[in-house]
Amino acid sequence: MKAVVVENYDSIDGISIKEISQPGIAAGEVRVRIEAAAIGFVDGLKVQGLYQTKDPLPFVPGTEFAGIVDAVADDVPSFTPGMPVIGMARSGGLAEYISVPSAALKALPGQVAAEAGASFQANYLTGLYALSERAYLRKGETLLVLGAAGGVGIAAVQLGKLLGARVIAAASTPEKRAFATSFGADDVVDYTKADWRDTLKTLTAGHGPDVIFDPVGGEVALQAFRSIAWRGRHLVVGFASGTIPALAFNLPLLKGGALLGVDLAQIQKREPETHARLIARLFDWLASGTLKPVVGKVVPFENFREAFKTMQSRSALGKMIVKLT
Ligand SMILES: NC(=O)c1ccc[n+]([C@@H]2O[C@H](COP(=O)([O-])OP(=O)(O)OC[C@H]3O[C@@H](n4cnc5c(N)ncnc54)[C@H](OP(=O)(O)O)[C@@H]3O)[C@@H](O)[C@H]2O)c1
Repeated sequence: MKAVVVENYDSIDGISIKEISQPGIAAGEVRVRIEAAAIGFVDGLKVQGLYQTKDPLPFVPGTEFAGIVDAVADDVPSFTPGMPVIGMARSGGLAEYISVPSAALKALPGQVAAEAGASFQANYLTGLYALSERAYLRKGETLLVLGAAGGVGIAAVQLGKLLGARVIAAASTPEKRAFATSFGADDVVDYTKADWRDTLKTLTAGHGPDVIFDPVGGEVALQAFRSIAWRGRHLVVGFASGTIPALAFNLPLLKGGALLGVDLAQIQKREPETHARLIARLFDWLASGTLKPVVGKVVPFENFREAFKTMQSRSALGKMIVKLT
C-alpha cells in the first residue's frame, strides 16, 4: 500500500509517499481503508521532530482519519467490513490502510462525508470539554476565541454558539475573521492591532469576555487575560504562537479570574464518564446535523506536503484534509 513516510526531520520536501506493506490485524483490531486524513498543528510539529514526544523514525504521520472498515479480527463484534468509521491513532493516518484497536474507532453516521468525519473528533471534543466541563460556559455569556479560524479555534466558535454564548472571534487577517463569522461568530477583533483590547472593551461594553478559549498563548494570551471579566475563565488549550506565557499571579487575584488547563490526551483516561458523555453528545449533534464539522482545505494524497506547509505558514483555515480516495 501507499503511505507517507517520514524518514528524517530535515524538511517537509524530504517526506515522500512510499510503498510499504499493508498492516495485518491482530486480536482486537480493525483494519480501515482510509478515505480522508486530517492534519492539525500537532501533526505539523511531529513531522519536523518539534513535538514534545517523537515517533521513532521512520513513521507514517497522521493522527485522525475517516474511512471504511476493510477487515475485522474474529474477537471484535462491533464492526463489520463496509462500515464507515472515524478514528484516532498515535500515527499512521496518511496511508491507504491502518489497523487500530477497535476502541480507537467510532461509527460515522452515513450522511457525514469522510472529510467532515476526519476533522471532527479531536478538535470538537477538546472544545466541548473546555467550554462545558472546565469553563462551565453559560447561555448569554461572552466567549472570546483566540486563533478563531484555526482548527480547534473554529470548533470553539461553533460550540460556543451551540451552548448559547455570544462569540467574539480574534484572528490575524480579514480572511480569517470572515471565516470565523461564516461559522457563527457574532463579532470579530484583529488581535494583531496594538489597541485590540480597546476594541474588546467596546464590544463587551466594558465587561470583558467571561470565557477565553486560548490555543495561541504568547503575548496575546497575557493581553487577553488582562481584559477578562470578573470571575472570568481563561482556557489554556495550546501555544500555537510558539511561546508559553508566564502570567503574574497578581492578575488572577485582581481579576477574580481562573486559568484552566485542557488536555485532550488525558480526558478519556482520567474522566471516562465525562468522555463518554461528551462523545455521545457530539455524535448526536453530528448525526442530527446540528453540528457540521468545518472542513478546511482539501488536498489530494499526492499533494500531502501542501497540508503541512499550510500549517507551517500560519495560513490554514480550519483543519487541513488529505483526501485519499
Ligand atoms: N489542549 C488540547 O488538548 C489541544 C487540542 C487540540 C489542539 N491543541 C493545540 O492548539 C493549538 C492550535 O492547534 P490547531 O490545530 O487549531 O492549529 P491551527 O489550525 O494552526 O490554528 C492555530 C491558530 O493560532 C494562531 N497563531 C498565532 N500565532 C501563530 C504562529 N506563530 N503560528 C501558527 N499559528 C499561530 C493562528 O491564527 P491567527 O493567524 O489568526 O493568529 C492559527 O489559526 C496548538 O498548539 C495545538 O497543539 C491543544
